[in-house]
Amino acid sequence: MVRYARFSYHPLPLIDRLWSKRTPLSARVPSSFKRVQCVSDFKYRHDVLHCEGLPLDQLAKTFGTPTYIYSGSAIDSAFLTFQDAFAATEPLICFAVKANSNLSVLQRLARLGSGFDIVSGGELERVLRVGGDPSKIVFSGVGKTEAEIRAALTAQIHCFNVESAEELDHINAVAKKMGQQAPISLRVNPDVNPETHPYIATGLKESKFGIPIEQALSLYQKAKALTGINIKGIDCHIGSQITQLEPYEAAMEALFDLVDQLLENGIELSHIDLGGGMSVCYLDEPPFPMSALADSIARKLHGRNLKLILEPGRYIVADAGILLAEVLYTKHNGDREFGIIDAAMNDLIRPALYGSTQKIMPVKAQTSSGERVDIVGPICETGDFLAKDYPLDVQAGALIALVSVGAYGMSMSSNYNTRGRAAEVLVDGDRSRLIRRRESVDDLLATETDYLHHDAAGEARDSQSGPKG
Ligand code: LLP
Repeated sequence: MVRYARFSYHPLPLIDRLWSKRTPLSARVPSSFKRVQCVSDFKYRHDVLHCEGLPLDQLAKTFGTPTYIYSGSAIDSAFLTFQDAFAATEPLICFAVKANSNLSVLQRLARLGSGFDIVSGGELERVLRVGGDPSKIVFSGVGKTEAEIRAALTAQIHCFNVESAEELDHINAVAKKMGQQAPISLRVNPDVNPETHPYIATGLKESKFGIPIEQALSLYQKAKALTGINIKGIDCHIGSQITQLEPYEAAMEALFDLVDQLLENGIELSHIDLGGGMSVCYLDEPPFPMSALADSIARKLHGRNLKLILEPGRYIVADAGILLAEVLYTKHNGDREFGIIDAAMNDLIRPALYGSTQKIMPVKAQTSSGERVDIVGPICETGDFLAKDYPLDVQAGALIALVSVGAYGMSMSSNYNTRGRAAEVLVDGDRSRLIRRRESVDDLLATETDYLHHDAAGEARDSQSGPKG
């Protein structure tokens, strides 16, 4: 495994690290909301938090809570900032759909010229529905089914990122049956530690992703002989919420060495895909060194005839979204204060799943930082928390915004506890649009049919057996 002297792999959940004894919590969590560095499209005006031109209390009245609110201009500017940073290498930017798969968000990005990184037939369908360009789609993921491979071949996507020798054979067989050649790159696993939460580290040799780099050359040689396969490139994605340049440097070194070896073996690639993973600032993480990464990539690409592909997800949408929620009750148990809100782990699972945390902003500005409270949801699990020990004045009826949740927020939501998923609203200046309505209980029950069959069968049996008595 590639190691860096400055880092050590940290197996503890992020929450333990963030809240480690070495760093007092007070240094980690903002102490005054007036001083919170907030995302520029969510700002206080006349002491009320706004999304662009619209006050969030008005949006709560119009759309209810919990609701994800996205700033259109924040999405655009993150995409354009990313594009600008890499202007020298003009990459194909393939937005990772899993970060936020709302059709309106995807459509907005497609109009900006974005390509898409997909991981399922469902995500393919989303991109095609919004008019995304199939020739700008890359298809990642370790378990592509035959139906998904067929759909992607029919759509004529740019490339399959192949994750195993067996998958390569399968794609070859499906393409041959369809009388096609599948464009592929091999996703290699460079065994690099991205220094992130273990659940989202994907480039370590013990992870399920990619092809071990030492096996890649022979698999490329095999792929070259397959008549249903057209070798296009090489790919890696080492993890998510990566804050440092070094893991990318280490991965690139391994990949470019392999590219050279392939050339020596008569295999010339047309692209290199370095994945996504660029971090955002949830609490006090340093800004991602984007220009240093762009310079480093440009230097390595110099003199090579390789198109660059990047697959950012979080960086494009995280800061563009907040989750607007209402405090239902407050309570005091033991020595803990609780603010119980109407959003829960089914709406935003990151805190429960990764021990992650993000800023919270009261919709009505507070002058003092408030008591430290646990912000929890109504779900029947102790793990149902959105923030712990957070300095906030909470009162029943108050509105709060969980900040920087535009990525892996709604897209990871569920119906646990038979809770309908939240609404999503897109704001542009002083206009708001409902881009996904709130799910009703009827929506949730509509797909469950078996009990009807039982009833029908039961009734039939009852009617056959005749009246009792
Ligand atoms: N490309 C591939 C192949 C990926 O698997 C991912 C994310 C990305 C690109 C985009 O990574 P990003 O730029 O967003 O870091 N649910 C977790 C994150 C899981 C990421 C999975 N793969 C979270 O909430 O932190």
